[in-house]
Amino acid sequence: MSTPLIAILAGDGIGPEVTAEARRVLDALGLDLTFEEALVGGAAYRASGHPLPAATLDLARRADAILFGAVGDPACDTLERALRPEQAILGLRKELRTFANLRPARIFEGLEDASTLKPEVARAIDLVIVRELNGDVYFGEKGRRTNAAGLREGHDLMRYDEDEVRRIARVGFETAAKRRGKLCSVDKANVLETSQLWRDVVIEVAADYPTVELTHMYVDNAAMQLVRNPGAFDTIVTGNLFGDILSDQASMCVGSIGMLPSASMDAGGKGLYEPIHGSAPDIAGQGKANPCAAILSAAMMLRHSLGQAAAADRVEAAVAAALRAGVRTPDLGGDASTRAMGDAVLAAL
Ligand code: NAD
Ligand code: IPM
Ligand code: MN
Repeated sequence: MSTPLIAILAGDGIGPEVTAEARRVLDALGLDLTFEEALVGGAAYRASGHPLPAATLDLARRADAILFGAVGDPACDTLERALRPEQAILGLRKELRTFANLRPARIFEGLEDASTLKPEVARAIDLVIVRELNGDVYFGEKGRRTNAAGLREGHDLMRYDEDEVRRIARVGFETAAKRRGKLCSVDKANVLETSQLWRDVVIEVAADYPTVELTHMYVDNAAMQLVRNPGAFDTIVTGNLFGDILSDQASMCVGSIGMLPSASMDAGGKGLYEPIHGSAPDIAGQGKANPCAAILSAAMMLRHSLGQAAAADRVEAAVAAALRAGVRTPDLGGDASTRAMGDAVLAAL
């Protein structure tokens, strides 16, 4: 590979703060990488009138991988939907066809007391949520109208076709096969026709993966089991909306939303890497944000898009060492700043 190009799309709120720490870690590795930055989200809207300007999308397309911060700005919440910051990440996921979102949740040594679960329950967590990212109620037809009774009405269509389910199911099985061989498909097939199709197709795909043990669980039960006995989960495969909700829940089980990275992959190995959290307007600009999720997202980028597995291992080990040494941001019960947390990871590298 010629020198890989990394697009840095830091975005809004704490996005730039945590992405800066991830960038420092990448720089310290001394790899042959080039970086190009562009505005995205509310920052881009302010500068150019659109949350995903053509130049930003063009950079994302040209890049070998994208390191994304977060988008979202309360001041933009009343804009027409197409101009809101969130449309930038939704647009990138759709345009880049990054349909497979991997959200690993594992407990780092010493963080049992940061979890809201009992330490012995939290200690057992090592799971990955494989979330479908290009379909579901997110991208179905949506609208508002005044109905026959004269009432305001809104709707968002939940839909998947069998090919969309099949390709994410395959990622689920492949992921489980490389881990502990257990795949739990989460749906709501007792109520939703979309989910019944999902379940039917997942069962069909299972025929190609005889070594993986497949189970099915309704999403309400899955939410309960995630706090009752999360150690029982290995790989979860689910739709866009359920995956969004369950991953925020899983993050707190392992200590904080500031700990969960993600990789959003297309069919060819190109990826967009981002923490699962948002722009956190309540703490933005205060140096309080936990940069671990962003740093761990950079590690996932090294592993999944850049063929740098050893460097990824190094970064993950450095995060573990920094936490083991007791350096913690406020979300983990400490008082380290975003920069100090980054410094500790760099020192451990
Ligand atoms: P959020 O994830 O931004 O924040 C939820 C809570 O978690 C807040 O109290 C916040 O302070 C805390 N938190 C989040 N990340 C943290 C970190 N790294 N360290 C310490 N604490 C952290 O979710 P929200 O408040 O529902 O949304 C805020 C904005 O972000 C909204 O505009 C939303 O649409 C957007 N959002 C964007 C993304 C994304 O860019 N992928 C993801 C989620 C939410
Ligand atoms: C996430 C976020 C996004 C989602 C929003 C900002 C569109 O919550 O990445 O988890 O719902 O996918
Ligand atoms: Mn989310």
